[in-house]
This record gives sequence, structure tokens and C-alpha cells, in this order.
Amino acid sequence: MKLYYGNMLESRVGGSGIAIEAIAALEERIRDIDAKLKSARARGELQFMDLPYQPVDDIVSIANEEAAECENFLLIGIGGSSCGSIALHTALSHPYYNLLPRDKRGGRPRFFVLDNCDPDEIAALMDTVELDDTLINVVSKSGATPEPMANFVKCYELMKSSTSSYAEHFIITTDEDGVLMRLAEEEGFRCLGIPRGVGGRFSVFSPAGLFPAAVLGIDIKELLNGARHMDEICRKPDIWDNPAYMFATLEYLAMKEKGYNISVLMPYSRRLRHLVNWYIQLWAESLGKEKTRDNKTVNTGSTPLKSIGTTDQHSLLQLFNEGPFDKTITFIRVMNYASKVELPAVFHGYDELNYFGGHTMEELIKTELFATQLALTHHRRPNKTIEIPEINAFSIGGLMYFFEVVVTVMGELLNVNAFDQPGVEDGKRLTYALMGRSGYERDNEEFMWDEGNFIACQ
Ligand code: PA5
Repeated sequence: MKLYYGNMLESRVGGSGIAIEAIAALEERIRDIDAKLKSARARGELQFMDLPYQPVDDIVSIANEEAAECENFLLIGIGGSSCGSIALHTALSHPYYNLLPRDKRGGRPRFFVLDNCDPDEIAALMDTVELDDTLINVVSKSGATPEPMANFVKCYELMKSSTSSYAEHFIITTDEDGVLMRLAEEEGFRCLGIPRGVGGRFSVFSPAGLFPAAVLGIDIKELLNGARHMDEICRKPDIWDNPAYMFATLEYLAMKEKGYNISVLMPYSRRLRHLVNWYIQLWAESLGKEKTRDNKTVNTGSTPLKSIGTTDQHSLLQLFNEGPFDKTITFIRVMNYASKVELPAVFHGYDELNYFGGHTMEELIKTELFATQLALTHHRRPNKTIEIPEINAFSIGGLMYFFEVVVTVMGELLNVNAFDQPGVEDGKRLTYALMGRSGYERDNEEFMWDEGNFIACQ
């Protein structure tokens, strides 16, 4: 992987860019952060960083056994408990995976996800799958989040009425000491543990992300190899050698010195579209904070925005080029695509179509990326590019680990706790109260209000 950051600099995009001196001025601070993170890691406080080193033979063998037994694999989870698995599947499995015959899916089950409490979703899913042919992986660190727990209790009820061996159809992935662990023991469900010190959005390299990936035939050992390789690179203390430190520093300076409050991630690959969702969740929940670590009110955090090349060249790009100076753009460039598609010259006399002849689709997508980089730079829009050789388990493992380090360092630069999510917990707490969960009655009283002003269209 390479990080090209030249187009972020004042020397390329003028006053809208970052001065090299501003980066240099943060060298010392980054060294301090590096030392702080290393000692926190040594004390076991950054457990997500050690996940790539865990043995995974057990996960692989359970996953292979289960994959052979079922026709459908259903993941129930939300946020950090589902985004990583969806990202891995979209990036690394066949784009039309569920539509392929089983042998072309490597003998693996079809994949479904319930990551919402939209009643139409679960109802439609029940029209689509036979439950007694389905393995359900309930992933919830806390074992209390309303959406996955509602899907879980409903699926449990339906499964129990459809087969006497219902317990065999569930695998629970949850906190090693959590409430779901206890329930699973009572019910005879199999369980996989998420280490206590690993939070939801940093759990993709724990069983939360690894088990679903392994069921779907993704090479999780290679994924962890990629993450370990990136860990080596991201241990370098010097900002000029460490791509994660440079990325975080540039985003921090863009926020603090330029007031840019939008950070766009734009891969030139549709297969990375859910990886961007995972990144958005990681970034937004970790960095969007009201208070600093020393309890000062800051209401900080830039808004991560998804944009997919080339699709969004015909949507968001106009705004990126000519709209307000309020964002940075990060491209992901893939050097070698898995498929080679040659373009023919078939309509002679039509220059609008015939110039493709002798070129490939890969050339076209790379050219469009280059054209977009040029256009943005010409419009003085700061942009940087992450280049990966190809999309495979190794590079995706590396990329995801890279972003976890970036967000951790951003948290340090902003002096916020990147590992809590009080704003999310508020929503959960109020839902419990309004749905009548005992112990939350007072919250309920606090938040009853009349919806007030409205216009009825009659
Ligand atoms: O990153 C986080 O901590 C959150 O996004 C959680 O993953 C999300 O709220 C789901 O929580 P849980 O896994 O406890 O059900």
C-alpha cells in the first residue's frame, strides 16, 4: 500500500492546502502520541491492535463445518457488529455471490444480514429462507442492543417452532463475560467470545468479523497477515514514514487550520462500497464527540462521506469541484483489478463509441480516477490517494487495520476518547425506556414531548 499525499499540500493546491511546515510542526506531538499508544498497548489497553496475532484455526474449522451443513447463513448484528463482515463479504466474495449455484460459491451458504429493525426486512427474509436450513450468527458485544436483540428473539421463536434442534442453528458472538454468554449456556447455543477490551467498531479482526468471513470462504489467515504487515508499518514513530500518522495529521490539520468538516472516502471499486460504510461508522462514532478527555466541550469531529468512483463522478463530483471549500477527498486506487475486460470497436463511423477499441475497462476506470484527481487539484481541492496493489484478503486486512490506527491517532490529536460512544448509548437508553424495559422508567418521563408544529397534506 502507498499513501500519496502531495495533492493535500499548499505547494499543489495553493492556500486551500496544508503547509508542509504545519506538518513538520506536529512531528514532536506525533512522536509523543506514538510513545503513548505504544505504552497503552503494552499495558493491554489497545487490545484491538493485538487481534491480528491470535490463532484462528478453531474459528476456521467451526466455520468450515457449519458452512457445509447449511444453505443460508444469517448474520444478526448492527454497527460494529455487522459493518465489518458486510465490508469483507462485499470486497472479497463474488459480487453476485448469493445468485451463484452452491458449487460456484465454494460450497458455501448464501449470506443474509439483519442489521435494522425494519419489520419489512425480517418479514421478507422469512419469505426467502427456510429456517431449518439456516445458521444464525447473533453478534452483539453488549447483548442488549435493541435491533439485534429484537431480531434474535423473533428468529428464536420462529426457529423453535420450526425445528426441535433449534439450538444447533444459533451461534452467538458476544462479550466474553456478557449476558448473552449466560443465556447461550442455558440454551445450549454455541458461543464465540469477543475479548472484553475490544469495542464493537474495532472488532472486525475478532470472531465478530472473522467467523462470518470464514463461513463465507474468505481466507481469514491472509486477512490477518495483511493486518500484521500493516501493524509493522504503523509502528514507525516518524510521521514521514508512517502512512497512518500522516493521514491522521493531514485530516487533523484540514479540520483545525482550514475548517474543513467533511472527509470524503472515494474508492474506485464498487467492491469497496461497504468498506466505506465500515470506515464511516468507525470514524463517526470514534471521533464525533462533545467533550475532550479533560471534559471540555468541543463538539468536534468531521463528517465522513461516502463516494464511489466512478458512479459518484456523475453525482457528488460537481459539488466536490465547485462547491464550498469544506472537505478533503481520499481516493482508493486499485492497481490491478481481478477481471480483464477488453473493449471492442464495433460501431464503425461512430467516434463517440469507437475510441474504446483496443482499450480495457481497467484502463477506463484508472483514467477516470486520474482525470478526477487532476480536476480536483486544478480546482484547488485537497486530495490524497491510497494505492493498493489489488483487492484481496491481505490488502483488505491491511487497509482496515490502517484505518483503525488512523482513527486512534485522530482521537489523540483531537484529545477525545475514540473508544466510547455516549451519543449512541443515549439513543439505546431512551429506546429501552420508551419500550418499557425495567430499570429505565425515569428516562422515559424525561423525554416525553408533543411533536408540535406540522403541516398535514390533505
Ligand atoms: O462500535 C460500537 O461500539 C457500536 O457501533 C456497536 O457496535 C453497536 O452499537 C452494536 O452494539 P452491540 O455489538 O453491543 O450490539
